[in-house]
Amino acid sequence: MKSSIFSTLFALLSLSLGSCSPEKSPPQASSGAWRTSANPNYRTPLPQGPVPRNPDMRMSGNFSSSSGVTFSRVSVPGPYVALTFDDGPHATHTPRLLDILRARNVKATFYVIGKNVDLYPGIVRRTVAEGHEIGNHTYTHPKLSALGMDRVLTEIRKTDEAVIRACGVRPRTLRPPYGALLQSQRQIVHSTLGYPTIMWSVDPLDWKRPGSSVVTSRIIGGTNNGAIILVHDLHGSSVDAMPATVDTLLRKGYRFVTVSQLLAMGNSGHATQPRPTSAVVGVDR
Ligand code: NI
Repeated sequence: MKSSIFSTLFALLSLSLGSCSPEKSPPQASSGAWRTSANPNYRTPLPQGPVPRNPDMRMSGNFSSSSGVTFSRVSVPGPYVALTFDDGPHATHTPRLLDILRARNVKATFYVIGKNVDLYPGIVRRTVAEGHEIGNHTYTHPKLSALGMDRVLTEIRKTDEAVIRACGVRPRTLRPPYGALLQSQRQIVHSTLGYPTIMWSVDPLDWKRPGSSVVTSRIIGGTNNGAIILVHDLHGSSVDAMPATVDTLLRKGYRFVTVSQLLAMGNSGHATQPRPTSAVVGVDR
């Protein structure tokens, strides 16, 4: 009984926090934050199969702060791609996703919402401890392009502080909610905080919940070298799609790196234009 109340609350919280859906209004501040209790019996599952299959830990993630203001993909000298997850951490979906990635020794980048970080700092700690990168997705998920620069910077800084409190690591890149950040704002964010704005080149529109097999096929169809893949770990069906997605991309020879590593790998560092997949043609993001 109690657990069903909590799962209902979590579901409501998830809805209130929203996603990158451009149709949703910014979330309202929730009243009364709560935390998940620690689970001392939890053990991270061991990697399966031959490891390491993913060469990311040997690669540098140092990219030049002057390398570029905006990236939707990166020109790289090999089959490297960055898998990114927005809007977490989520109480149950994010840990389940971490299990899936861990089992495959795949590293990803998590664009977290600061407010969620304050709710679930332990999940952020685990994310970093398992070799993933944390990116900044603002504190309350507003449409930044509608805000003044002071509020934009406050949203980013509050999230930085929450992430540092949770795991001791500062994010290095920004993904604006809804992809909404004016070019002038991007330049100020870059010059003030050193953050490149990271968009995406593959968007399966998973927030519309088309079903996990559709999410998988859209990602497989849209991915090419240097791709930045957008997924939301807020949605259970998106997480459900990840085993088949990751396994198929690994079989096709792709290697997963974090966003910082992809940027560091970029040969010239010049910002690149979006290469929308068929899934995003005609969609205003
Ligand atoms: Ni988002």
